[in-house]
Amino acid sequence: MSNEQEGKQAQLKVIQFDKAKQQLIEKAQPKETFADVGGMEDVKKKVQMNFILPLKNPEFFQAFGKEAGGSLLLYGPPGCGKTFLAKAIAGEIDASFLHMELQAILSMYVGESEHNLHDIFETARSHKPCVLFIDELDAIGGNRHTMRQHHERMLVNQLLLELDGLNSHNSGVYVIGATNTPWYLDSALRRPGRFNQLIFIPPPSEAERELILGLKLKDKPQTALNTKKIAGKSQHFSGADLEQLVEDAVEQALHRSLESGELQPITQEDLQESLKRRKPTTLEWFSTAKNYATFSDVNQDYDHVLEYIKDHKIR
Ligand SMILES: Nc1ncnc2c1ncn2[C@@H]1O[C@H](COP(=O)(O)OP(=O)(O)OP(=O)(O)O)[C@@H](O)[C@H]1O
Ligand SMILES: [Mg+2]
Repeated sequence: MSNEQEGKQAQLKVIQFDKAKQQLIEKAQPKETFADVGGMEDVKKKVQMNFILPLKNPEFFQAFGKEAGGSLLLYGPPGCGKTFLAKAIAGEIDASFLHMELQAILSMYVGESEHNLHDIFETARSHKPCVLFIDELDAIGGNRHTMRQHHERMLVNQLLLELDGLNSHNSGVYVIGATNTPWYLDSALRRPGRFNQLIFIPPPSEAERELILGLKLKDKPQTALNTKKIAGKSQHFSGADLEQLVEDAVEQALHRSLESGELQPITQEDLQESLKRRKPTTLEWFSTAKNYATFSDVNQDYDHVLEYIKDHKIR
């Protein structure tokens, strides 16, 4: 990476919504870019087209009456890098990153959740270019709980209002939503100009798994480890599963160290032992997704998922 790129990354602003203080804290933080995201080539291409090119060629987009900005919806099994990718997108376009957990703004007081939501969008608008990441989008927009329906309806309406605002007069704000259950999203949220771009984030490939294992083991006492071998045997593991696997191995080495009174490094056996005890947590998601894709997917939104299931022999 060049010095210039490194400098850019360090300047990237991360803004966090602090519910308790009702204020937004801004702080500089070194950021990942696409270079840190193993694989995901299709996803990167889509982001290039939607987010990066408009930012780099604003005059073309202006000439056609289009503004930079827009929204994407990331979905897939838990722990496979949605949050990680959203941050990398902000790093890639050198934008501020505003991370919002929907749960955190939900309030029991009528009108307050909407107010919080509006505040966050306003903050995004005053920090352009800005990636506004809405995590756990499933917290609203689902029309399955009848009890909370009215309350949720108001919040969905507010969200629609803010998203439509993005199209009309807010260039430079990029909204990225993430959910494990896109099929529960209110259909109004899926119309053009809103979250109409669905992007599937699958579990890491074998090469990506090796990369993630390496990242998680970095700087820990270890013997010569063959992470390639572990990657080969951890099919369907998510990034979070691999993180857990390394944690288990750490625990074993730590336990040995405490027993012997000497620092004992992580060994290949520790990794293998941990692998034996862990199961991938992505398969349950695939079986649910398969149901939707097969029986309720009128728009063929989830064909990617079916293809993935077939190619990876998931049953
Ligand atoms: N392609 C990848 N390259 C490098 N690291 C990855 C990749 N995919 C996942 N990871 C790692 O896996 C971990 C889990 O990823 P992340 O938290 O982004 O998952 P998520 O999809 O947002 O999960 P959830 O649905 O539970 O919110 C992260 O610590 C991240 O570092
Ligand atoms: Mg996440």
